[in-house]
Amino acid sequence: MATAEQIKALIRSHLSEDDERFYTLALQVAAHEAQQGHTGLAHDIRVIVDKSRKARGGNALLKFPSDLAGMVISEQANLPLSTLVVSDELHNRIRRIVHEHRQQDKLKRHGLANRRKILLVGPPGTGKTLTAQVIAHELRMPLHTIQVDKLVTKFMGETSAKLRQIFDLIRDEQGVYLFDEFDAIGGERSRDNDVGEMRRVLNALLQFIEQDASDSLIIGATNNPGLLDRALFRRFDDVLHYALPDESARRRLAENVLGTFKGRFAWESILAESAGLSHAELDHACRDAIKEAILNDRQKVDRQVLLQALRERRQTHERR
Ligand SMILES: Nc1ncnc2c1ncn2[C@@H]1O[C@H](COP(=O)(O)OP(=O)(O)O)[C@@H](O)[C@H]1O
Ligand SMILES: [Mg+2]
Repeated sequence: MATAEQIKALIRSHLSEDDERFYTLALQVAAHEAQQGHTGLAHDIRVIVDKSRKARGGNALLKFPSDLAGMVISEQANLPLSTLVVSDELHNRIRRIVHEHRQQDKLKRHGLANRRKILLVGPPGTGKTLTAQVIAHELRMPLHTIQVDKLVTKFMGETSAKLRQIFDLIRDEQGVYLFDEFDAIGGERSRDNDVGEMRRVLNALLQFIEQDASDSLIIGATNNPGLLDRALFRRFDDVLHYALPDESARRRLAENVLGTFKGRFAWESILAESAGLSHAELDHACRDAIKEAILNDRQKVDRQVLLQALRERRQTHERR
């Protein structure tokens, strides 16, 4: 149960019509209950607070402690699952995350928890960040992206304290929280003198993730499969592997992006020219070709132009 102090404070804030204080206190009670293992009650309190806040037109987006400004970027994503071109298996696993979150009450009644700590692994430009946006949109929750690299640079030495602030937010403000490219912490080790600090931060982050018992979704994304030791796996409810698009994925993606600009062309050469490109690079090449069409007052993308755009992407790709 809430402490006597909490109850008195709640009553005082109500009588003085201090809504913000009342919400804060209510969330503190929720946190207190969660610590005692009363996660059901904690969840219910948060839902009540959230609903009331929204009903009053309150800002559902985050209010940051000011020193975190620039470290966390918030958005209300608007990208449905259908924009994401991935294997059926990946598609189903993402759907399952969304589905379990929507039905979490049902699961809770049987003492089960929904999947909400997710690790995304794979090469750049294959849809990891996009997946976080899609999940946030499907759950109608704000997406908050934590700029891990900036956090480490700016708060060198006190990153763990900042992480604690962030995990307080995760607990108090339900949302989707993306730790994007968090290998920034573990990577570049050899060039960095502060190897010790980096390792401490990574360990602190993993510990916070492990301890978190909030209603938020926590997504980590990394390009660095080397990070995937067992210690890391253990902390996540699900690990999703992303890969470069195969032929059928490339065709689906190109058709999606080209939309009405798609000409009636033979796909063989296009698929051959796009082999080895990431989703992001192929997406980019298609948009380049659409621009050409628009600037030349054409209704359709010219196949030669698209092939040329793909070649350019490949060259940029190979120079990297
Ligand atoms: N699997 C995908 N399906 C559809 N579009 C994609 C996919 N992957 C990447 N893209 C396109 O490329 C852009 C950048 O991809 P992103 O999700 O940031 O890649 P990552 O985070 O894996 O590096 C996306 O906004 C989207 O336009
Ligand atoms: Mg990304």
